[in-house]
Amino acid sequence: MQIIITKSSQELAYCAAQHVRKVLEKNANAVLGLPTGTTPITLYKQLVHDYQNDKISFNGVTTFNLDEYVGLPPDHPQSYRSFMNRHLFDHIDIELSRTHVPSGTGTSTETAQTYEAQIKAADGIDLQILGIGRNGHIGFNEPSSSLGSRTRVKTLTTATLIDNKRFFHTNEFQPTMAITMGIATILESRELLLIASGSSKAIAVRAMIEGSISSSCPASALQQHAKVTIIVDQEAAALLSHPEYYQRVRSETEKLREQERVK
Ligand code: GLP
Repeated sequence: MQIIITKSSQELAYCAAQHVRKVLEKNANAVLGLPTGTTPITLYKQLVHDYQNDKISFNGVTTFNLDEYVGLPPDHPQSYRSFMNRHLFDHIDIELSRTHVPSGTGTSTETAQTYEAQIKAADGIDLQILGIGRNGHIGFNEPSSSLGSRTRVKTLTTATLIDNKRFFHTNEFQPTMAITMGIATILESRELLLIASGSSKAIAVRAMIEGSISSSCPASALQQHAKVTIIVDQEAAALLSHPEYYQRVRSETEKLREQERVK
């Protein structure tokens, strides 16, 4: 795992966008896995900014979102499809037909199987971007999710329902279930990039990086993947035991890469 600790959430967004840019420079037809939540909003803003300044194009890109609320139609303002259109897709040169978000209103088993088949048909995900819940969830794989899970419907924990309540008006229907890529689906991506910001994520970030692999912290499953970058701001990194080591790994790896480039 490469762990990058940034001074601010703005620097985090910049670093993550740079990572996405590098992936698209190597492969203009890359398949990206995308998250929702507050954390990726600044990343999406940076990507829109980069697109507007001709630094990046999404013309050949295909995307798969991690999850969707069960019971919300795509045009509902709080659906993850609306979120993605509003924060990213409406502002870049991506073909909407190549953007995929699981259906929150279809028959669950059929939707899940179709989604897995669509990912396979696209030859898998090149870069899966992830956020992390306060309880360590990735996508909507709540604690106790099987590490071998595939796309399916999950019941949301009380902690997640409380965290996400802020997005819904009082008395508005708030879904209690979601359809989400499974942990095994996520781990099949060729590369993973997880971003976390703020002190409310510090416990989950420590469990993910330095805890044991356990379904109690679904994000800890990332330890099993060979190509993972985790970018966290100082607040989210506050409880890590070895921040100095992670910084040194980063600078020494960069030095080595630079030397190899010069050779
Ligand atoms: C939701 C999403 C997750 C996301 C999490 C954290 O639960 N399903 O993919 O990682 O929120 O979001 P935030 O960035 O708002 O803390």
